[in-house]
Amino acid sequence: VYKKKLIVVSNRLPFVIQKDDLGNVIRKHSAGGLVTAVAPVVVENDGKWVGWPGPDYDFGEPLPESSVDDTSPTAGLKSSNVIPVALEPHLYQSYYNGCCNETFWPLFHSMPDKAVFSADYWKAYVEANELFARNTIKALENACDPDDPPLVWIHDYHLMLAAHAIRQYAANRQYKIKLGFFLHIPFPAWDLIRLFPWADEILQGMLACDLVGMHLQDYCINFIDCCSRGLGTRVDAKDMIVEHGGRYVRIAPLPIGIPYDRFRTLAVSAKRTIPEEKKVVLGVDRLDYTKGLPQRLKAFELLLAKHPEYIEKLEMLQIAVPSRTDVKEYQDLKEQMDQLVGCINGRFSTPTWSPIRYIYGTVSQQELAAFYRDAAVCFVTPLRDGMNLVAKEFVACQINDPPGVLIVSPFAGAGQNMLEALLCNPYELNETMETLHRALTMPEDERTLRMNYLRKREQSQDVDFWMKSFLRAIGRLDGEEAPVV
Ligand code: UDP
Ligand code: G6P
Repeated sequence: VYKKKLIVVSNRLPFVIQKDDLGNVIRKHSAGGLVTAVAPVVVENDGKWVGWPGPDYDFGEPLPESSVDDTSPTAGLKSSNVIPVALEPHLYQSYYNGCCNETFWPLFHSMPDKAVFSADYWKAYVEANELFARNTIKALENACDPDDPPLVWIHDYHLMLAAHAIRQYAANRQYKIKLGFFLHIPFPAWDLIRLFPWADEILQGMLACDLVGMHLQDYCINFIDCCSRGLGTRVDAKDMIVEHGGRYVRIAPLPIGIPYDRFRTLAVSAKRTIPEEKKVVLGVDRLDYTKGLPQRLKAFELLLAKHPEYIEKLEMLQIAVPSRTDVKEYQDLKEQMDQLVGCINGRFSTPTWSPIRYIYGTVSQQELAAFYRDAAVCFVTPLRDGMNLVAKEFVACQINDPPGVLIVSPFAGAGQNMLEALLCNPYELNETMETLHRALTMPEDERTLRMNYLRKREQSQDVDFWMKSFLRAIGRLDGEEAPVV
């Protein structure tokens, strides 16, 4: 267990503050890979969390504690350990909807034609990062023991400049700290990064850290290449070290894991929601254009058209969590999905059966565990995805004998190391359909063999393993020497 001081900084707190029907202020668990991975670590270490509590939080009011029936990963996070950051509506609009989600999200997912480049967005991004930095410094007051400096751990593409400002503020106050950064999305090649007019500042911002972690070696190689080409910095590509401002910054591939035991326990106790006689293909995603959702539905439609033996025998259950609903690309996708689901259901439904059950909403992880456990196939088809935790959670919940089958796209980080899954390219419709057919007809012994390997890896490389790897790489693991850079 990490016993030293930990301060996590991320755009979103692990919960959003909302009012329930009675007007009570409540916490609502935020969905998404970052929260699922980091929340248990902060709770376990009694760490602090600096982040945005959502647009409905009134900054005059105290933050509520979690409710007694809260089973989310944030249930144990005390409000006294949370530092809420206020984002005024105009700032939220240009920084979060604008720069984060209309610029960096598509650009970093290699979809530059969806990216908007705007000086106003960038100005707001700089301002918001400053604001997060100032709040982090508040959290550091009285916490900076020079013999045991706290770890400030910044997360994701929203805060790529924050480390730079935090380092400066800390130096002015003579605070000794360790600064780590983890990017939860892909880091693209130089050809893409250079499209962003202020790319140098982004690279410099990240290099203000002692350690920059990413999911895959490929992303690290891209980042190091960008530093070398964009900034002309000296890099050691073999040992993954970048020299910047007289310091050495370590860049490390640290693939994230899931709280494996937690999901397994949930799967053991979760009530059955898919009847035993039903065969279900499961999809679980935020409603995001990177997730390949229309492609997935079209592959399912083709399967029904080419293999009528599945009619009335198979169902697709797609959970689509509403996400970034102020952004036009997301609104367009919602419309496209509504139409596609309607078309496919209209085309194939019979009086007693519909092929697609589509939930536009958030489901608790307890309910998810039952879906994961009882689905025949988990169909994970992103066009691009930093890692994809859903693929891993499905594996952890596979306690039935014989188990189900995982299909994953090679363009998700998960597709790079979950090699016993069936891999398929979602851009190729026929291949995707054939892979789904193969999964549905796979012999039991092959399913068991593949799942055993997948389970073993996810169990040993779980979220604790990831956390320890990060702490080791930044020299903060109890009883271990700092690595020499
Ligand atoms: N998730 C959830 N409720 C839902 C759907 C998803 O809590 O209704 C969680 C899911 O368990 C997973 C995360 O959201 O941990 C999604 O992470 P992933 O890495 O797959 O995608 P991201 O949303 O980070 O792009
Ligand atoms: C991805 C990002 C996270 C983000 C999450 C949900 O997992 O890497 O940083 O929190 O999506 O997106 P949202 O915009 O709702 O925070």
